[in-house]
Parts: sequence; structure tokens; C-alpha cells
Amino acid sequence: MSVIDLDRVGKKYWPGPIDALADISIDVRQGEILTLLGPSGCGKTTTLRLIAGFEAPDEGEIKILDNPVSGNGNWVPPEDRSVGMVFQDYALFPHLTVGENVMFGLHDRKDSKQRRKRAGEVLNLLDLDHHFERYPHELSGGQQQRVALARAIAPEPVVVLMDEPFSNLDAHLRNRVRDEVIKSLRTAGVTCVLVSHDQRDALAISDRVAVMNQGRIEQTGTPQDIYKHPTSIFVANFVGKTNLLQGLIQGIDGCVLTDFGSFCRVDRSGLTDGAPVMVAVRPEGFEPSDHGTLQGTIISTTYTGSNIEAEVKICTNSGGHRSLTVHLPTNQSYSSGDSIRLVLDSDYASVVRNSCETLGFTPPSPL
Ligand SMILES: Nc1ncnc2c1ncn2[C@@H]1O[C@H](COP(=O)(O)OP(=O)(O)OP(=O)(O)O)[C@@H](O)[C@H]1O
Ligand SMILES: [Mg+2]
Repeated sequence: MSVIDLDRVGKKYWPGPIDALADISIDVRQGEILTLLGPSGCGKTTTLRLIAGFEAPDEGEIKILDNPVSGNGNWVPPEDRSVGMVFQDYALFPHLTVGENVMFGLHDRKDSKQRRKRAGEVLNLLDLDHHFERYPHELSGGQQQRVALARAIAPEPVVVLMDEPFSNLDAHLRNRVRDEVIKSLRTAGVTCVLVSHDQRDALAISDRVAVMNQGRIEQTGTPQDIYKHPTSIFVANFVGKTNLLQGLIQGIDGCVLTDFGSFCRVDRSGLTDGAPVMVAVRPEGFEPSDHGTLQGTIISTTYTGSNIEAEVKICTNSGGHRSLTVHLPTNQSYSSGDSIRLVLDSDYASVVRNSCETLGFTPPSPL
């Protein structure tokens, strides 16, 4: 059963109108961590606010645990939706202690001993039990973040919504807090929808990612799907680095012929032979090999720790040149000016469509 179900949801803001969301369909499953990923203004916060009930949709329907909560004449107020929200700025009460902040959301539990017990359990889970009597200003940013999470999950909501939860943290603290928070969510089995504009966070922590652009969802999939097989130019460019190559569908066996050779086994559903398409190839899709058919010269190299990112000038089949971004292994040294041969790995290549349009592509001029 889906925990949250958004069915073709649209939202406008007035005056304007500003089209904030159009045709948003998301199905969040039990225990899943789903990230809404996209640039500023694409509608991520609006989507969370619609789920929480701080806004009402103009179109479509939202269900929580199969119960309609908004759309089609239904309306369940935020306090009755069993949704926990963690705001970007934590929004802790400064005059309440950590324990009191967490107990605040438990006002429907009449017995104060029970409230205290539940707050203690959740703070223990988040490794904060020894801070029960402290005030928020006496905690680090990461600890405040976890108190905000504790307050959201204490009432045992059906789902926790988190808006840019890690953006206020220092770079060195960020990954540790992120990993701790995600571990706590998984230990507690909490279903979570979180918002991020950072593709590394989204790929690292999510079961699935919904990539948004201008109020629409471009693609929903596992981090691997999104990275290795983007379906649109927007997703290919927004999530990691990519090389966009023009090509033509060739034959019936799923091959695309480009100026750099043929990529096979790409998803070409709905495309006819000879159709012009764009292929997005991740930097991992070119491997150095003495027998490689692509010949080029290294223009620049950047050591990233896990690989060497290189710009390589490649001779194309049509006699021209084109620069590609490729990832090279660190067990060999590469320098600017070196000649290199590369082979193609189709596993990192996919046919991409223009954003929000159908598959198939009119090539721009010239690449
Ligand atoms: N209360 C509001 N009134 C009018 N327009 C709004 C309101 N809230 C958001 N918008 C507009 O709706 C669109 C989506 O905004 P939203 O806050 O959902 O984006 P976002 O993806 O969360 O962006 P960010 O990453 O900057 O937080 C934007 O164009 C924004 O200007
Ligand atoms: Mg936002």
C-alpha cells in the first residue's frame, strides 16, 4: 500500500497566477526515503506543503494511507494528517528545553509520564538522551537538526517531511549528520519525503529520487536509474556530469549511431529507425583501452580522489573534433597532451528527450 499518493496534482499561487506545480504524480511506499530533487523554484517546498496540508491543490488528489486528504472536495486539516514536518531552519522553540521541544508534539497524550517516556525513547534513538535538559542554543547545528527530527517522529507519524534538512550545516559536519539522520530514520522504519537541491545528497541517501523541473516531475527512479539512465536532457545535466551526443537510431537491436561510434542496448522504445536522438553518456561511459576505437588527446585532468576527471579532445568519425568529459582510473598517471584510446560502455548511455516533451529530438546546430 502506498503511504502517500499524489495523483496529477496541480497548484497555482495568486495573484498571478504562478504555475507552481503541474501534473505531479508520486507514490511513496512504506518505509521509503524519497527525495524531491531540483533547482530553486521548481516546486519542492510547495509539494511538501500540499502533503502536509498547509496548502490545497487546484487539481488532482492527495491520499494518505489510501484516505483522501485533499482534492475532489476532500479536506483533512494538517493536524489530522499524521504528518511530521522538519523545517529548513529547524524551528525549535528557543525557550523550551530539548525534552520539552520533543514533548510539545505529544500534547494528545494526557499522561505526562508517558510523554516524558516517549520523548526519552526518541532522543535515545537519535543519541541525544543526555541533552534532555539543555536549550537549543546550547547545542551544535547537527544536534539541533536531530532534535527537530526527534520532535517530528515522536508522535509516530505516518510520514516525515523534511525540507532541505542538511543545508544549514557546515560542510565537514554535513555528511556525518546526514548519515546519522538517515540511519535513525531507517532504524525507526519511518517513511520520509525530503527535499534537496543537492544531487550528491539525493543519490547517497534515497531509495528513490523524483527529479523536478519547473513544477513538473522529469523522472522518478532509484539513484542508479537516475544516474545511469536519465530520460531527459534536464536530468542528465542536473544530476552529475554528462556528455550529450547526437545520434541516429539504427537497426532493430537498440543501437544508436553517433559520431563517436555505436551505442547498443540503449532504451529506444517508441523510436523508429533513422530517428534523430540525443544520447547522454556519463563520464564513466568511456574507458581507456589500447584497443579503443576512439582516439584523442588529454586537454586537462583533475584528481577527485576516486578518479581522474579528464577533458579529452576526440577525433570524430566525420573528421572533426569534440571535447568529452571522461573518468579515468587513478592507478595510472595521465597528463595534458597525452594520447589516449577509449572504448564505449553502453551501460552509462541513454537516449534522452527534451525536458517535458516526448522522446525523440530535433538536433540543435552544431554540437
Ligand atoms: N506563497 C507563495 N505565493 C506566491 N508564489 C509562491 C509562493 N510560494 C512559492 N511560490 C512560487 O512557486 C514556485 C515554487 O516555489 P517553491 O517554494 O515550491 O520552490 P522550491 O523548489 O522549494 O525552491 P527552493 O529550492 O528555492 O526552496 C516558485 O516560482 C515560487 O516563487
Ligand atoms: Mg523550497
